[in-house]
Amino acid sequence: MASHRVVIAVTGASGVLLGRHCLEICSTLPSVETHLVVTDAAKKVIVHELGKGALEEFTGLATVCHPQERVEARIASGSFDTAGMVIAPCSLHTAMALSAGLGGNLVERAGQVHLKERRPLVLVLRESPLAAHHLTHLAQLAGAGAVIMPASPRFYLFPTSMDNMVKDMALKALSYLALPGLPRAEYTPTES
Ligand SMILES: Cc1cc2nc3c(=O)[nH]c(=O)nc-3n(C[C@H](O)[C@H](O)[C@H](O)COP(=O)(O)O)c2cc1C
Repeated sequence: MASHRVVIAVTGASGVLLGRHCLEICSTLPSVETHLVVTDAAKKVIVHELGKGALEEFTGLATVCHPQERVEARIASGSFDTAGMVIAPCSLHTAMALSAGLGGNLVERAGQVHLKERRPLVLVLRESPLAAHHLTHLAQLAGAGAVIMPASPRFYLFPTSMDNMVKDMALKALSYLALPGLPRAEYTPTES
């Protein structure tokens, strides 16, 4: 039986490949059960960025898929124990709703649960630049325990393709959940 439950949310920001890589990585880990929520806006971005039929690839990689309106799902309850939640990519809309304490859909509700239960919540934010009020709200979220991770590549690892770069960001996001068997990205300094 899977001993680590991970909630993965894909919201309507650009970079939906981030969410797919998170799911792919988790599917290779022996004891991980993934609970996926894809927002309605994310479904549009998935078609836009990855083409028709790509949504099925996401759902096929998850252990359980929850509709965004199903706020009574197990992951909406604090008594459903998880290793943490990654929102990748995270839209500004969802980030601002979380900072305001809202739980209008399952992504927001599950996010609030992770904050109140003091479990890892990672927001892989995809927006640039950010306005002052966004930064204020993000600082509040960080204060409440969320990891605010801009979708910013680790150039110093010399990614050889966009896919490598995105996979590395997904690995980094998942690293906050302390999942056994998760591969580590090592930094190899160049000779000077
Ligand atoms: C093709 C496309 C790309 C988008 N890219 C972004 C983005 O990079 N960042 C962002 O915050 N919102 C982006 N949006 C806008 C969000 O989808 C919109 O704010 C939506 O309400 C987010 O809802 P959700 O957080 O429930 O997924 C994009 C929308 C579309 C259609």
